[in-house]
Amino acid sequence: MDRYAVAGHPVSHSRSPFIHRLFAAQTGQALSYDALDVPAGDFTIAVTAFRDAGGRGMNLTLPLKELACGFADVRSDRAALAGAANTLHFREDGRVYADNTDGLGLIRDLTVNLGVSLAGRRILLIGAGGAARGVLAPLLDEMPQRLIIANRTRARAEQLCSEFHRGAILASIALEEIGQGQFDVVINATSASLQGQSLPIGERTFATGACCYDMLYSKQPTAFLKLAGELAEVRGCDGRGMLVEQAAEAFKIWRGMRPLTGPVITALSRLLAEGNAR
Ligand code: ATR
Repeated sequence: MDRYAVAGHPVSHSRSPFIHRLFAAQTGQALSYDALDVPAGDFTIAVTAFRDAGGRGMNLTLPLKELACGFADVRSDRAALAGAANTLHFREDGRVYADNTDGLGLIRDLTVNLGVSLAGRRILLIGAGGAARGVLAPLLDEMPQRLIIANRTRARAEQLCSEFHRGAILASIALEEIGQGQFDVVINATSASLQGQSLPIGERTFATGACCYDMLYSKQPTAFLKLAGELAEVRGCDGRGMLVEQAAEAFKIWRGMRPLTGPVITALSRLLAEGNAR
């Protein structure tokens, strides 16, 4: 049986095994998918051992995405641009291919599942760490009117702007300025809510009917979505759809077919609502 796994540290919270096992059942593919706890210092040994034992591909989560990108023999443009990979494919010719499907997952969830168009819209991306970097190029490819990056450490937002240099379309602001914005789509790519800290969003951050997207997801609405909902009439969505969509792209890289994501998003939502950790 072909073997796949998600590796990270910690990894016990990962829903990727749940998602990929549903994809396998849906498409009739015989494969196994496990979770491997791999601290960064063990990355090369663990990945090599998995491949040598017949592993065909891996997903990577924190803190291994940058290491995975560096480990590969071949990388997609989007992985190279992000400097991070969430998917490794151990190819028949012995070469290791790295890709980053996070951005595609976000775009697909926004535009297909949620019906939010990005072309010509004003987008605010909060955060300038790995999560923001991974979705920046695909967001820009959707041709927004403007994409503004706000980050607590302003210099990191400026650095991203200069690396992706798209002229006036892309700019950075200080975190304190996000209260004055008027954005159509507001995406939280920070880890602030994981630490129970809120972001200085204000009523004026959101244009009428704005979409507010948190790349994190949890059983309860995230602190960011809760606050946004209290401030304005926004459509709030968390990152569960993005998680399933990025997984579907990885599955396609490995197996050559893209599974249906709708039923799996529904199943994941049911799982989260039940509070079952699987
Ligand atoms: P990830 O790979 O998840 O993006 P990261 O590279 O550590 O992780 O980046 C975390 C992001 O969340 C950064 O943009 C960080 O801001 P800084 O660059 O200033 O560190 C942001 N972040 C984390 N905690 C935050 C908080 N309490 N308030 C605002 N931003 C926060």
